Amino acid sequence: MVKAAVLGASGGIGQPLSLLLKASPLVDDLALYDVVNSPGVAADLSHISSPAKVTGYLPKEDGLKNTLEGADVVVIPAGIPRKPGMTRDDLFKINAGIVRDLITGVAKYCPKAFILVISNPVNSTVPIAAEILKAHNVFDPSRLFGVTTLDVVRASTFVAEVTGEKDSRSIVVPVVGGHSGDTIVPLLSLARPPLSIPTDKCDGLVNRIQFGGDEVVKAKDGAGSATLSMAFAGFRFAESVIKAVGGEKGIVEPCYVYLPGVPGGDEIAKVVGIDFFAVPIELGPNGVAKATNPLGSINEREKELLEVAIKGLKSNIDKGVEFASAEP
Ligand code: NAD
Ligand code: LMR
Repeated sequence: MVKAAVLGASGGIGQPLSLLLKASPLVDDLALYDVVNSPGVAADLSHISSPAKVTGYLPKEDGLKNTLEGADVVVIPAGIPRKPGMTRDDLFKINAGIVRDLITGVAKYCPKAFILVISNPVNSTVPIAAEILKAHNVFDPSRLFGVTTLDVVRASTFVAEVTGEKDSRSIVVPVVGGHSGDTIVPLLSLARPPLSIPTDKCDGLVNRIQFGGDEVVKAKDGAGSATLSMAFAGFRFAESVIKAVGGEKGIVEPCYVYLPGVPGGDEIAKVVGIDFFAVPIELGPNGVAKATNPLGSINEREKELLEVAIKGLKSNIDKGVEFASAEP
């Protein structure tokens, strides 16, 4: 039996992500939480002829508690999205407090759940989540993930557009670092199958992957950021976690984790000099089975990108940790 909870379920990401979870045969119980409209979204989804039982809660009457009790997987797309001209860091002021409060609920009501943080700025909201879980003595780094799957999905899609490959799913590009602009480091040199793209085109491709989110923000022209592609990516990651927990082997997804606390992560943390970083993660029954280190064989250009990313990530991480350590 798998219970999935979505916090921020009425939003642009929350609704299609909840739809995909409801349609999945891997989910038995789906609990939706939001500050608005979640009972409506739940009623709508509950008419779909798939096994999952759906419930919707608002903050009143212990809504967060009822959503989270018994949850195995908690996906968090709650918070405001960007408008043109904003960076993800501009969302910190509002979203940091939202994530802090929701993670406090997770710590109290389902401390063993796998936690998938989508709310931006991911580079800072995941460190906030870690600090809150630590404060409640329930932090298990193998169960906390910053969802960077959209960067990987974009990398496959954009590379396929350049190479002419019809099925972009057959292209796997490791994307490491964080989830914002130049903290996103696509490792085209390690793509599988190997790519033969001229260097001048590689730079453009890297830039497009790093700033893919801005492309959508600009096109939506004030109506928000990526929602449908994010729901696809968020579902892919949630499904991977559920499958790995169920015993499926060999599932690898890049995501943003607390390196010193996960198997194989310590060594990578020493290389990058920061604690939170996205690398390809092999998933297993307890969440992170192994963090893999692709950095040993990257090219000179990628080393430069990595250096820039680490600098940006350092300040994003410090900002999150400081926020969570301050008195509310
Ligand atoms: P949205 O505004 O459409 O939806 C957000 C939802 O969160 C709303 O329904 C809102 O009511 C709800 N919410 C606000 N405060 C809440 C609280 N305290 N508890 C529960 N729910 C609350 O926004 P969206 O487009 O769905 O984006 C959500 C977040 O996801 C943004 O921060 C966005 O930047 C981020 N995002 C991340 C990625 C990624 O790759 N990690 C990709 C796209 C978007
Ligand atoms: C994305 O990458 O699409 C998201 O992080 C949303 C954004 O603000 O760009």
